[in-house]
Amino acid sequence: MCGIIGYCGPRKASDVLLTGLKRLEYRGYDSSGISVGSAEGLQIYKKEGKIQVLRDTVPESLEGNWGIGHTRWATHGGVSDVNAHPHCSCDGKIAICHNGIIENYMSLKDRLEGEGHRFLADTDSEVIAHLVESFYEGNLEAAVKLSVSLLKGTYGILVMHSDHPDEIIGARNGSPMVLGLGDGEMFIASDVSAMIAHTKQVVYFEDGEVVRLDSGGYEVTDMRNRPVDKTVDSISWELEEMEKGAYSHFMLKEIHEQIESIPRAMGGRIDEDLATAVLGGLNMSEMELLGVKRIVIIAAGTSYYAGRVAAYLLESLARIPSVTELASELRYRNPIVEEGTLYFAMSQSGETLDTLMAVRELQRKGARVLGICNVVGSTIARESDGGVYIHSGPEIAVASTKAFTSQLTAMYLFLLKMARMRHMAWPEGKRFIAGLTGLQPGIKKILENEDGIRKLAKKYHKARDFLFLGRGVNFPVAMEGALKLKEVAYIHAEGYSAAEIKHGPIALINELTPSLLIVPDDHLRDKVLSNMKEIKARKGPVIALCVEGDDEAAQIADDVFFVPKSDELFSPFLMVVPLQLFAYYCALELGRDVDQPRNLAKSVTVE
Ligand code: F6R
Repeated sequence: MCGIIGYCGPRKASDVLLTGLKRLEYRGYDSSGISVGSAEGLQIYKKEGKIQVLRDTVPESLEGNWGIGHTRWATHGGVSDVNAHPHCSCDGKIAICHNGIIENYMSLKDRLEGEGHRFLADTDSEVIAHLVESFYEGNLEAAVKLSVSLLKGTYGILVMHSDHPDEIIGARNGSPMVLGLGDGEMFIASDVSAMIAHTKQVVYFEDGEVVRLDSGGYEVTDMRNRPVDKTVDSISWELEEMEKGAYSHFMLKEIHEQIESIPRAMGGRIDEDLATAVLGGLNMSEMELLGVKRIVIIAAGTSYYAGRVAAYLLESLARIPSVTELASELRYRNPIVEEGTLYFAMSQSGETLDTLMAVRELQRKGARVLGICNVVGSTIARESDGGVYIHSGPEIAVASTKAFTSQLTAMYLFLLKMARMRHMAWPEGKRFIAGLTGLQPGIKKILENEDGIRKLAKKYHKARDFLFLGRGVNFPVAMEGALKLKEVAYIHAEGYSAAEIKHGPIALINELTPSLLIVPDDHLRDKVLSNMKEIKARKGPVIALCVEGDDEAAQIADDVFFVPKSDELFSPFLMVVPLQLFAYYCALELGRDVDQPRNLAKSVTVE
């Protein structure tokens, strides 16, 4: 979490920093700050609240051409002006911004206080400013290296010193950091969105690397001062993709973008003649793929639910035992890595720390881990042994929507490939491809009918609790629907298997607790209808999400939203879109901050 940015160049640093922070705001938005260097020393402004509050505080007249900035998602210490970054050394000459968590800050702080350093804030990060001050003897980079060698935890750090004009030192361990190369100017930030307006030439860093940059260039070294050769990458995203355009919120824009993002994830990856998928990025030969005996998908949040859908289908169609596990849990349970098991790390951002650490733990044990990521060049994408980019374009709203369906698309392609190598015959493969490539009109129709969802949201948004119920491949979709409603509308919601409610949750049913049931036209439909009747018998209001023409479901339910008919395999795509819209419109009715819900951040780079 947290976003950091640094700039050296001819422009007014405060403008570059504030605009960059606005783009990084999705990473954390409880407070922010900048430090700008000029002949007068360092000028520091920091404020609790959104970037706009900081913008209103920083004077137009603030001069200075180099600086660092930070947008915070609090971990240690409450949300306040004083706890916002940058933090300063006692002499006010050194300023630092930090993304991550310093686990041993208490012992370092005790030591530094013993040496006479005065701390102002109540955060783990402030210790870095004082450490650098304690080691500083004229060489800022050397002082930063000595400091970070004592840190335990994760960090992306930017440091500046008033006696080192036009210089920034960056260091990384576990938190993302990327350098942007301009013409006579340099940018450094947590991710490319902060600099895409200025440059598309970037350099990604690895853990343990330290960069010294100024407006004319950069040098990267490791902790033993050995130079590190870096390659320059180009960003393919366009600035417009990061703008809201005509939409009132990024979340709505991104829900609508699914019409294009799903086909984009398939682009160039389908072999119609052979009725299979072409996924060169897996870096695995046919023989190796044939040797896969088990698949484990690791992920968090929405990506975890996408993984659950994928595992269900991999097992039932490709006949490969498959499970999805929370990365945060897998990492600490000493998993057994067996030969023949293929792992996938599914992560939109490619930076989720729980997932990244699980990847590393698995790799340490000899596992082959493939990444299913959206952000090109992200840490998980770079550290995994191969994988598939989902190409859904930048996802800015904190609540993930289009990434979910693009993750599904990538995994459906993998599933097709694996199934075709095993039990799926050519005609079945052709039907599968037709189903996957034919999703667009159905999604379009749902979006054209979104007013129906808006009406449901108007009717139900005052509910305090909600049940989302589905079966089979739509059970994880129900959980995803509940997660969306919690995140953006702050309505308590449980996602359950419809079959499971009789084992407990049915006790919650009353006139005030609505249930939303996903009723695709599949082999479990009749069972779900029975569950629906059980809820109605207990006076629970019911919304049914069912396929066009399902009059029976419509008659039992109080309210209904019809989705176009599809092969049951593809129903998760069509069922999740109305759930995303429902959460969005409930949040809107309740006046929530849809794109930046409270307490959340887009990229969860802390444990
Ligand atoms: C939910 C949401 C989160 C993320 C989770 C994993 O809308 O956005 O639950 O899905 O934090 O993030 P990634 O996919 O970036 O690893």
